[in-house]
Amino acid sequence: MKKILVTGGCGYIGVHTIVDLVQNGYEVISIDNNSRSSITILDNAEKILGKKIKNYVVDLCNLKDTETIFEENKDITGIIHFAAYKAVGESVEKPLMYYENNLGSLINILKCAAKYAIPNFVFSSSCTVYGNPDVIPVTEDTPQKPAESPYGATKQMGEVIVRDAVKSNHVQAILLRYFNPVGAHPSISIGEIPLGRPANLVPAITQTAIGKLPTMQIWGQDYPTRDGSCVRDYIHVCDIAHAHTLALNFLISNQNTVNPEIFNLGTGDGFTVLEVINAFEKTSGVKLNYSVGPRRTGDVVAIYANNSKAKNELGWQPKYNLDEMMDSAWKWELTLKKD
Ligand code: WQD
Repeated sequence: MKKILVTGGCGYIGVHTIVDLVQNGYEVISIDNNSRSSITILDNAEKILGKKIKNYVVDLCNLKDTETIFEENKDITGIIHFAAYKAVGESVEKPLMYYENNLGSLINILKCAAKYAIPNFVFSSSCTVYGNPDVIPVTEDTPQKPAESPYGATKQMGEVIVRDAVKSNHVQAILLRYFNPVGAHPSISIGEIPLGRPANLVPAITQTAIGKLPTMQIWGQDYPTRDGSCVRDYIHVCDIAHAHTLALNFLISNQNTVNPEIFNLGTGDGFTVLEVINAFEKTSGVKLNYSVGPRRTGDVVAIYANNSKAKNELGWQPKYNLDEMMDSAWKWELTLKKD
């Protein structure tokens, strides 16, 4: 079995990807210092998989500690690097913490990929690298605008670091640009566990609906869009997860024509904030308590993906529609309430 190292394996997308990888025949180990996640999520993954996933509680910003994992696991075929801070608002308040953590950990894992000759590397990037695009849908060749936050800047810089690192060694890499990952695994054993008040739309909706939050706000309804609220490309986390398995298969079978290859991971459909709320109310049967507030600094007006490259070259086909995304997110929130 090919062994894959997943960094940030206890995170939202990390744990869903681990489940998909194992179900598709890979052996997986995780590195996660649990500074922003809980190790218990791997116990839940074990319920789905029927096998334990080993997690090394190591800070990737410590190169020595990170290297010991590679000394102990000489048979790693590929790395998927998720580990990073991802709160847009926090990155504006603490930019240097974001640059230090997100870029420091990336540089260390790339040093290990070179030192231990790990041939395949997948980097967790984001549609945020496009900034506020002039033309939508965006393709992988759409020129990048200035990032709207230090978080977005760490993704833009991260892509440059990966590109330059792989030029100088024999690592084949893929950059996966996620649009807006939402929802939970159909088993409802794993899902998103926001730390503190959720900044992202869907957990804010489900926490408001269940009563954890008294109300929520739509950040602006005066944008030049069909109903005045911002447009995003919401994509089920399981569709994102499966794209990582396909990306590794692509790398391991040496299909890269350029290095790194870049793929957009979105459904190709854009929905407004109001449309997402309506889809949630329809699937959950819960009337949401919200009001319209001021615009949020740094928000992109509208963005959604041209995903034809991932479809044609990775053989990727998103399976879940918006109602299914809302349904799984709500069911997951209901299980959290029981804890
Ligand atoms: C979506 C829309 C908000 C909350 C960011 C990162 C991206 C990824 C996901 C990490 C916006 C509106 C939100 C609320 C609202 N990061 N909204 N009320 O900003 O598109 O993407 O998070 O994985 O890389 O850039 O996602 O969910 O925060 O916002 O009206 O309470 O929902 O204004 O228009 P975003 P989001």
